[in-house]
Amino acid sequence: MKVLIIGGGGREHAIAWKVAKSSKVKKLYCAPGNAGIQECAECIEIPVTNHEKLSDFALSKEIDLTIIGPDDPLAAGIVDVFEKKGLRVFGPRRNAAIIESSKIFAKDLMKKYNIPSAAYETFSSPDTAIEYLKTSKYPIVIKADGLALGKGVLICMDYDEAVKAVKSIMVDKQFGLAGNRIIIEDFIEGPEVSVLAFCDGTHILPMTSAQDHKRALDNDMGLNTGGMGTFSPSPFYTEKVDEFCKQYIYQPTMDAMKAEGRDFIGILFIGLMLTEDGPKVLEYNARFGDPEAQVVLPRLKNDLVEVFEACIDGGLDEIDLSFEQNAAVCVVLASDGYPEKYDKGFEIQGLEDFSVTDEYHVFHAATKKENGRILTNGGRVLGVTALGSNLKEARANAYKATEKIYFKNKYMRTDIGKAIE
Ligand code: GLY
Repeated sequence: MKVLIIGGGGREHAIAWKVAKSSKVKKLYCAPGNAGIQECAECIEIPVTNHEKLSDFALSKEIDLTIIGPDDPLAAGIVDVFEKKGLRVFGPRRNAAIIESSKIFAKDLMKKYNIPSAAYETFSSPDTAIEYLKTSKYPIVIKADGLALGKGVLICMDYDEAVKAVKSIMVDKQFGLAGNRIIIEDFIEGPEVSVLAFCDGTHILPMTSAQDHKRALDNDMGLNTGGMGTFSPSPFYTEKVDEFCKQYIYQPTMDAMKAEGRDFIGILFIGLMLTEDGPKVLEYNARFGDPEAQVVLPRLKNDLVEVFEACIDGGLDEIDLSFEQNAAVCVVLASDGYPEKYDKGFEIQGLEDFSVTDEYHVFHAATKKENGRILTNGGRVLGVTALGSNLKEARANAYKATEKIYFKNKYMRTDIGKAIE
């Protein structure tokens, strides 16, 4: 098979690494890819936003399967464009990707189909939202409706902070059009767990659990980021939690999307909060998590391409999904200053120590190759994943590995996975 992966971050590197291991795959392309993905795929300089050019490339190379990594092209309907040209593609169509691209759609869906989630109201005018905040209980959560690079959720401790958040989203357009409408949601508490699931429109097959660290600084301080590190599995995600989620969240979500005429085919990411009143859905995403994929895929035993094909063909119920009985920790090496201002273009040293083993992976998130040197090319630069027989061992291995890599403004959190030791 000839396979094309769309995207160029750490998630796509993890997908590419796993897809390249499939006995079915003879040739792998990635657009646009990065310096790490180049090691296992031929990278093509086409941006993820240019759906016509990407699908024409797939036609010209007779690509058998295209896998879409990031949220933006999914939300913009890249799958529909590929399908219209008769191409086989893995990911939800635009009418199903809306489960991520509109938080209001997702909340209304959960309300309509009794899927557990926090109570909420939606607003399209800042004045009405501010009026509502006068009688609200604090803390409170304010969310932009649309895609906002993972930064569109603000927890506000009091009325003044909440008013500032509403104005910044709806009036100053901090997140652009994504903030035309907002959700104001009750604050709920508990451990946050990410579950990624394969979906074929009818069946849903959850993978092993993971936990992300969204804040930039140690002890969950600082600004929200795309994710500074992950571990898998989550010790909070017990069998009892899994049973509850399968019965009241996962399958009901699949059924709800089908009932709405929006069959979901692809990866559904369910962001859960395990509250005292039971698991509740914080958010849905319509793709692999980043950096969740970097700890989940190295533990997956199945041939990933076979599972993708079962999703597309509707035979997921015949797949026996299995994971190694081990643990994985991913520490993100970022450019100091991320997620705000940072410099890039610095040479990365030490990568040669990681020439492919199954215990360590250095997934490139934002790198580029120039004159034979690998340079930093963004905020989150690398994801260093290590495996171990348990989380403690995996964590020690991951941090040991981070010491071998150097670039000028290297920054990482030092407490990934620490809280659960
Ligand atoms: N790690 C969170 C996300 O992928 O949205």
